[in-house]
Amino acid sequence: MIDTHSHILPGLDDGAKTIADSLGIVRQLVHSGFTTLIATPHVMEGRDFLSPEEILAAVEQLRKHVAEEEILVEIWPGAENYISPDLGKWAGEGKLMTLGNTGKYLLLELPMLEIPQYTEQVLFDLQVQGLTPVLAHPERNRGLIERPEYLVEWANKGVLFQMNLRSLSGRYGPEAQELAERMLRSGLIHFVGSDAHRISQEDGVYLKGLGSVKETAGEEGFREVTLENPRAVLTGEGLMGGREYFLHQPNKKKKRRFWELFRR
Ligand SMILES: [Fe+2]
Repeated sequence: MIDTHSHILPGLDDGAKTIADSLGIVRQLVHSGFTTLIATPHVMEGRDFLSPEEILAAVEQLRKHVAEEEILVEIWPGAENYISPDLGKWAGEGKLMTLGNTGKYLLLELPMLEIPQYTEQVLFDLQVQGLTPVLAHPERNRGLIERPEYLVEWANKGVLFQMNLRSLSGRYGPEAQELAERMLRSGLIHFVGSDAHRISQEDGVYLKGLGSVKETAGEEGFREVTLENPRAVLTGEGLMGGREYFLHQPNKKKKRRFWELFRR
């Protein structure tokens, strides 16, 4: 399996601080069944603007330590780019690290509480540069929880979505959990990620998340989001396109079951 979103590079962002932290997180992810991790440090305007060269150097360093420790895992470069009206321009100037450094898919993040008014322009600007935008954990965004119709609109324009493994267990609240579940059931999730920032104190948290993904998306859906889609990204191939997206209604199964008891 491939983890599409992680903060495992030491000292670059609010994720792993030291190489010991990095190795601890990597071990937990490997024990959960991941064989490939895409390192996606936060990149944002100002002093936190990491260049592709800095990210590549940190990936090389981590790969060396992982090999020394004989941990069987592949580490690939990536970045979680915070949205800015200039994102398309920076991409055109080669200032942004794409997923797997293939120059094809760009992971980007919205602020937690809103959808900036320039979002659609930025998505379009990236596509004009030949990049496929991959939106990080849309289920956690307050604006998208309130206006999920944007998700369908954007997906139909070629935007892809990455869900956090812990969203399904309610880690980010019941609304994020519900939207994650709805998106996954609707085939609107293309990748899953741990979004790991530190060594988790919660035993088996990623395994639990992966189990919920399988339960919600089914075997085939599970393979797509954990293996086939991210593999297509890393090899620079395209994902299966051309389908029309829609969003299922929230799952009311529990309520129906309750009333069915009275009908019998
Ligand atoms: Fe993240």
